[in-house]
Amino acid sequence: MAHRDIQGNAPVFVQTATSVMEGLDQWQQVGEAEARMAYDMTLRNELSGGTPVVREFEQTWRERTCTEYAITVTNGTSALYSAFFGLKVGPGDEVICPDYTWICTISPALLLGARPVFAESLPGSVVIDPADIRRRITSRTRAIVVVHLWGWLCDMDAIMEISRETGIPVVEDCSHAHGAMYKGRPAGSIGHVGCWSMQGSKPASAGEGGILATNDPEIFDRACLIGQVNRIKGMDLVTTNYQHLQPLGTGMKFRAHPLGIGIAAVQLEKLDALNERRAGYVKEVEAGLAEISCLTPIPTAEGSERGGYYGLPTLFQPDDLPGVSRDAFLKALNAQGLPASDGGYELLHRLPIFGDGFDLFGHDRGPICPTDSTGFDGPWQGYEEGDFPVSEATHANLVFLPMLSDPVPGAAGKILDAVNEAVRRLRAE
Ligand SMILES: Cc1ncc(COP(=O)(O)O)c(C=O)c1O
Repeated sequence: MAHRDIQGNAPVFVQTATSVMEGLDQWQQVGEAEARMAYDMTLRNELSGGTPVVREFEQTWRERTCTEYAITVTNGTSALYSAFFGLKVGPGDEVICPDYTWICTISPALLLGARPVFAESLPGSVVIDPADIRRRITSRTRAIVVVHLWGWLCDMDAIMEISRETGIPVVEDCSHAHGAMYKGRPAGSIGHVGCWSMQGSKPASAGEGGILATNDPEIFDRACLIGQVNRIKGMDLVTTNYQHLQPLGTGMKFRAHPLGIGIAAVQLEKLDALNERRAGYVKEVEAGLAEISCLTPIPTAEGSERGGYYGLPTLFQPDDLPGVSRDAFLKALNAQGLPASDGGYELLHRLPIFGDGFDLFGHDRGPICPTDSTGFDGPWQGYEEGDFPVSEATHANLVFLPMLSDPVPGAAGKILDAVNEAVRRLRAE
């Protein structure tokens, strides 16, 4: 969100979450408790390194996700970078990633030299299609990254079956799905490594922060090696594989700011109650949509309990409202006071960086370079409209209803009334 600074001069950028609908959403992301934590930590000079608060947070994360190892980092992007480094993703490799996600899911793999390979969404869904993952595997595929987008769970049974058959490891990007469960297991603990963003608008926020969790000591040690310069000495490394590189590791630094982690620790205490209220709200809205045939809920994976709820995607059914486009439908919702919106993120293959390619490392080099001269990857072919017909069709009809982070009682009914009124007016036109 662009703001003026306190003198009203230069524009600044603030990206923390606010209540999306006053009156219906009583959410206040940060309050006294977070401020007190930051204040106390500052007075204790807990401002750098693996401080007691940071270590306790990591322990809590291990317990919550039923994993052996967890390490905090500067943000979700560096968690993903650490995970890909942990999996030894490098030049010449391919990483399969959903076409529909935030760019940071895959950008770290590019920086490690790997080529992205996008995969379709399940029809009518916001998550990756396991059958399409299978189709896109080659001898170069080094990793698969899946995303529980908006808090909707991927079909992890099917994905892990592919992983077992092929030996290709799976990264779960849980940046939208804090506290989500899949068949009784925490999201992030099913694949080989889980990554979470704790950026300012996320369900548990450090302001800026991230965390990685895994049961694999090699992935964990390599994640420490790539980002925890000076912190790991005698403390965290599990194997002896990298002891000789202590304490500097690779000299790269993704260490989280302890104040952010302190704030996230307070947020984490509220997460389960908030998830419960968000789940109740979403389920009520979705149940109400059964009476509104032009807007349908998007299913989550069987046996899963969504978490985080970073958005509330639904699917517009244009055949049910002949002559009304998705955008006209959105306008009608907006006219009823609903801050409804379209796709959330652009499909990755449509972004110029992937559509056209980019000379990432200069000198006509790199995994997405259209003029690659090294012969290593071959020139990047780019993408065109129509390359991902399933994701494109779904994306064209996505309608995001307001995701109330802490809905007041009766909020879902008010949202449904507004949708109903919009539909009534459109049908009457
Ligand atoms: C799906 C997804 N993955 C990764 C990230 C990157 O997280 P961060 O912004 O903390 O680097 C985000 C951030 O919004 C995200 O939405």
